[in-house]
Order: sequence, then C-alpha cells, then structure tokens
Amino acid sequence: MKILAIESSADETGIAICDFVDGVFTVEKNLIASQIDMHRAYGGIVPNLAGKYHTENIMPLLRKAKIDPSAIDLIAVTAGPGLMPCLVVGVSAANTLALAWDKPLLGVHHIEGHIYANWIQDDASVPTLPQFPALALVVSGGHTQLMLMHGHGDYEIIGQTVDDAVGEAYDKAARLLGLPYPGGPEIDQRATSFIVSSDQRKLRDADTLPRPMLHNGNYDFSFSGLKTAVLYSVRDYQKNILLETGHNQKSICKTDYESVDLPEEFVLQMCYAFQEAACDVLVYKTLKAAQEYNVRSVILAGGVSANSYLRSRLTSEITDNYPNISLHVPDLTYCLDNGAMIGAAAAYRWDRMNDQEKKACHLTVLANPNLPIL
Ligand code: KG4
Ligand code: ZN
Repeated sequence: MKILAIESSADETGIAICDFVDGVFTVEKNLIASQIDMHRAYGGIVPNLAGKYHTENIMPLLRKAKIDPSAIDLIAVTAGPGLMPCLVVGVSAANTLALAWDKPLLGVHHIEGHIYANWIQDDASVPTLPQFPALALVVSGGHTQLMLMHGHGDYEIIGQTVDDAVGEAYDKAARLLGLPYPGGPEIDQRATSFIVSSDQRKLRDADTLPRPMLHNGNYDFSFSGLKTAVLYSVRDYQKNILLETGHNQKSICKTDYESVDLPEEFVLQMCYAFQEAACDVLVYKTLKAAQEYNVRSVILAGGVSANSYLRSRLTSEITDNYPNISLHVPDLTYCLDNGAMIGAAAAYRWDRMNDQEKKACHLTVLANPNLPIL
C-alpha cells in the first residue's frame, strides 16, 4: 500500500510518500520544511509563528511531492501531542485531502511516529527489526519516557520525566551558555570536541554536574535540576570574574552577571559536563529496565536520538554487556520530526485493524495537543 503522511506538530512541516509491501516499510519521498532558522531569533519555538509558517509551507511541499492521488491508499497525519496552532495545519490539510480524494485517514500519535522510525527499512544497513518485548527510550523536546512495547501498538510507560524533557533541558542549558536554539546539536558538537582535546584527568575534573534521580529506585527522570546546576556553575564563574575586577559581592546584580562573557573553554567544559550527566542517567536507567523486563530489543526514539554520544554510549554498552539484546537507533534522516515516521506508525496500525475499524477511518481526525499514547 502507498501512504501519504503529514507531520506538523512543532517546527518542521513534513510530507512523506511511503510504501508498505509484504511487511516492509520503505520511504519514496521525505520532504521537510524546517522553521528552525526563524525561531532561533526568539530562542525557541513561538507557537503562533510556527502555525503561520506551517500554513505557508504545507501547500508548496505537497505540490513538490507530485502526488498521484489515484496511487494513494491511506493518508496519515500527526494528531498530537504538539502545539495546537501547528497541529491544526497538518490535520486540516489531511482531512481535506482525505475528503477530496475519498481516502481513509489515520491520526497518529507523534511519539508513536518517533518509535516507528525504527521500522523504516529503506536503508540496507538496517539488518533486523526490533523484537518484542522491546524497551523504547523516548527522548525529545517534549518527552522523556521509558516505554515497554509488548507488541505493535501495545505500550506500557514504566518511567518518565517528572519535570523537563531531556531535549528541553539541552535547549535551556545551551541558552544559559549563550548557544543558539536548538541547543541539542550545539551541546553535542561542543561536548565531542572537549572529549577529543582532553586527557582522562581533564575529563574527570570537568565532570562536575549531578546525576538527578540516578538511584531513586524507579524509572522516572528529572532534568530541571541539571539545568539549574548549569545556571549555578555559570553564575559562579561570572561572580569570580566580577570579584576579581573589583565588584562588591553584595551589590552584584543580574545585569552584572550578564555582562561577563563566557570563554569558549568554559562553554566546552560545561557542554561536556551536561551531556555526561544527562546521558549517564538515560543509559543507566535504560539498561536497568532492559534487564529487569528481560527485553529482546532496545529502541531509541525522538529528536535527542540524533545525539552522537547517546548513540555511541548505548551501542558500546549493549554490544559489550548485553549481547542478547539488539539495539535499534533511527537513521539520522528520521531522528528529528518528519513525515516518514508518521507513515510507518500508520502502516503498522492499519495492518492490525479489522474491516470495521478501517471503515471508521473515513471520519474527521481532530488535533489534540495532549493526545495520550495509551
Ligand atoms: O523530536 P523533536 O524533533 O521534536 C519534538 O518532538 O520535541 O526533538 C527536538 C529536540 C530538541 O530539544 C533538540 O535540541 C533535540 O531534539 N536534539 C538534540 C540533538 N538534535 C536534536 N539533542 C541532543 N543532541 C542532538 N544532536
Ligand atoms: Zn518529535
């Protein structure tokens, strides 16, 4: 079957044309219009502006995809979670096309899409698919969850962040260090160059930040304290400079702190410390849960799955210590928001539906910014 998939939950408009034939999901076209450059000036996504850009981008993208409506068997669209002004653009376009072309339409959960990026098989270097029971580490700008998958579409959340998502913490920590949005790739790149240019002792000395909730006995996470620890380190550094340059400790105010530029070496070290602490907790809890629940596969999903250190840490730990568990990380093309992953989740869901459920797919899909996955 051929699927047209649409994603517009945050700051990327994604349109994909995909095939699902004999249980193999491949991607014919995966077009993305990113708004990151527009939101960078504001330090993060501005929802109404994002909605406006989706509206501007979606029609040219659909035209560029040169879709032959007669070849399409199913339309899939991200129904939520996400930003309402953004979701409604993709959902309205999808409802309209489904009505005009008389095609079935499936609303897909955005996180389910990220998870199913691991079932995209157009890369010949992906030899096997995940096996159940599987454990998904979901790490994005809005989510941090450990999810057991007992089968296709059968999820059990065993832990999640109690405050910030890890991608959000990356973005906030980067901002504190004067780095542009989105902060994840900026920190990733600087942490790597710090590692490459440092000996073991320097790395040990730089590893100064806490591992929140590492040993709290469950699979929940907390990242807002880690971000605050970055703030305190930055403030300590700035305070020392201010005291050295004759400021009186009692009269130092916010604008004084902000007047002190952070040197490159300090920023690199903080990026390393932040990434080390965040990934330590993610990897430790993932491996502990993988063992406890006796899973056959571990899946990485969400925008932070593009992180080079998290990918390599999980790869080496699982290869070295858990040879019976297969690790699945999405191809870098499918880590950030895209239409293809939404198509993959829809294809596997369609496959499980009976005729009556398929008939119901001719009803309107509604956008729901708080859509639950379970
Ligand atoms: O999945 P995604 O594209 O959007 C959401 O569903 O939230 O994830 C975006 C998040 C941002 O917080 C971004 O900073 C983070 O993914 N991210 C990264 C990297 N690339 C993107 N975080 C760490 N390392 C990266 N290389
Ligand atoms: Zn996402």
